[in-house]
Amino acid sequence: MRDGFQIEPNFVPTDDKVKLVDALSECGFAKIEVTSFTSPKAIPMLRDAEEVMGRIKRVPGVEYTVLVPNLRGAERALESKADEFNLVMSTSETHNLANLRMGREKSFAGLAEVIKYVDGRTPINVSFSTSFGCPMEGEVSQVVVEGFTKRFADLGVRGVTICDTTGMANPDQVKRMCDSLQKQFSNLQLTLHFHNTRGMGLANVLAAVQSGIVRFDGSLGGLGGCPYAPGASGNISSEDAIHMLDAMGYDTGMNIPKLIQLARELPKIVGHEVPGQVAKAGTTNVLHSEPSYVDELRRAQ
Ligand code: COA
Ligand code: ZN
Repeated sequence: MRDGFQIEPNFVPTDDKVKLVDALSECGFAKIEVTSFTSPKAIPMLRDAEEVMGRIKRVPGVEYTVLVPNLRGAERALESKADEFNLVMSTSETHNLANLRMGREKSFAGLAEVIKYVDGRTPINVSFSTSFGCPMEGEVSQVVVEGFTKRFADLGVRGVTICDTTGMANPDQVKRMCDSLQKQFSNLQLTLHFHNTRGMGLANVLAAVQSGIVRFDGSLGGLGGCPYAPGASGNISSEDAIHMLDAMGYDTGMNIPKLIQLARELPKIVGHEVPGQVAKAGTTNVLHSEPSYVDELRRAQ
């Protein structure tokens, strides 16, 4: 919901957002990132954060997380009783300046203050944007990502999300990153967040799964993108990734037909086609009837 909607040009009515979260809650997700408590001027699409959080039906077993950029956001998120706060900063200096209007060290200090203020009342996750490359700076060293992970782990966060904000990661790089982070931070909840900007999204999911990662961000229909990252485009489509893992025999715990039905309704909500493919093609177990001449040919054999 958060990454999916934040870049959409036309405001999605609050009623539609609430309905969609409620429907997603029935699909088997462990977590739903409902909205963000950012400045409404920066992200007008999510200016109804309080109302959405107040109206959704909380399903036991589903965590309702929200993006929190600063202290003001944390106050609003506490008020809304979110189950988790997802703090955000970039591992690239330039993208941090573009997105959050400050350098990384200032962000770190601000988020450290947020963590102190929350004081264990709500679990905290930190999402690191541009961890596999920055659209303006280029390469971001894995050592930098590990360094920020260590500093936040020392502040007691529950988890970190390693984000490929503009689809620059490749599967080899993902494997190296995941192997190393799991070895060094076995007590942290590790989530991977891919965008399919260059068609490598699902290959990267697979590389991470094969390295042992079990948590991924995705968005219905493959919507999404950071409005402050040049060339950003959609997240991996949740239903495409889940369908792939299911086809490979992984137990995803998801209600796939229900999810696909929701993905098919999404173009009506956002007013345009969406990138997800399984919703268009159907799952691999939905077969088509054969053309009539095939049976004639079969009999003539
Ligand atoms: N909630 C509501 N309003 C907020 C806010 C918050 N969390 N943080 C700041 N504001 C408001 C301030 O009240 C101020 O309003 P005013 O102009 O009416 O006085 C205005 O935003 C600017 O505040 P300032 O403290 O100068 O912050 P800033 O301009 O440096 O903005 C961010 C900092 C990070 C809050 C803002 O840039 C932002 O929300 N960016 C969006 C980041 C994002 O979500 N990106 C996509 C996801 S990765
Ligand atoms: Zn993203």
